[in-house]
Amino acid sequence: MAATTSKSPRVRHPLFARIYPRINAFAEAHGALEHRRELLADATGRIVEIGAGTGANFPHYPPGVEQVIAVEPEPRLRRLAEPAAADAPVPVEVRAGRAEQLPVEDGAADGVVASLVLCTIADVPRALAEAARVLRPGGRLYFYEHVRSQDPRFARKQRRVNLVWPLLGGGCSLTRQTERAITDAGFTIERARRFDFLINGRSSPSSPNVIGVARKAGNSSP
Ligand SMILES: C[S@@+](CC[C@H](N)C(=O)[O-])C[C@H]1O[C@@H](n2cnc3c(N)ncnc32)[C@H](O)[C@@H]1O
Repeated sequence: MAATTSKSPRVRHPLFARIYPRINAFAEAHGALEHRRELLADATGRIVEIGAGTGANFPHYPPGVEQVIAVEPEPRLRRLAEPAAADAPVPVEVRAGRAEQLPVEDGAADGVVASLVLCTIADVPRALAEAARVLRPGGRLYFYEHVRSQDPRFARKQRRVNLVWPLLGGGCSLTRQTERAITDAGFTIERARRFDFLINGRSSPSSPNVIGVARKAGNSSP
């Protein structure tokens, strides 16, 4: 188990934490709810969710999930996740912690869930190394993220907007190459669906999205 040390940078985004529930409700009303269902449809066993926020994924865990350990560093969001955990269709335990130093034992998880969080985590390689540490051999990483566009013109626009975006979005970056980071961390991507998340037919700097599953090397039983 990774210990939390006093050197761990704290994650506190009080303003973002106040507005995120409304941003999320708007996104869910325009398609993000279906994205969450797609992300979690095949999840089974013991799951660690990193940066769980308000617990927006909790209602969508399918019956094959035995337990969710939901790790969230931001105190206000974590408080909102508690009642969502109580209402979830599967057992959910909310824990304080950062993705870079997960409060979970080695090899304890069948799956790790990352949704709209690898855009924000300060040290993505370290967080993915932690995901690999807590996964059993052959365990899966389920990811739903907005990412850097594959269209160079759009990516240039994202880079420009990204000069201010993290200040408004609790540290969120528009320019992460998340699939590359996942393969660089040693995972094999089994499937990934790229799409533009349009709201009322319009794109935004965070429209390029991906939903996918990656596997940690090792025994591939269930
Ligand atoms: C855009 S919100 C997404 C929340 C949730 N995953 C969802 O799908 O609605 C980004 C989340 O990342 C969390 N976060 C930021 N830095 C983190 C870190 N180092 N480790 C884990 N979570 C982090 C924030 O507190 C916030 O809950």
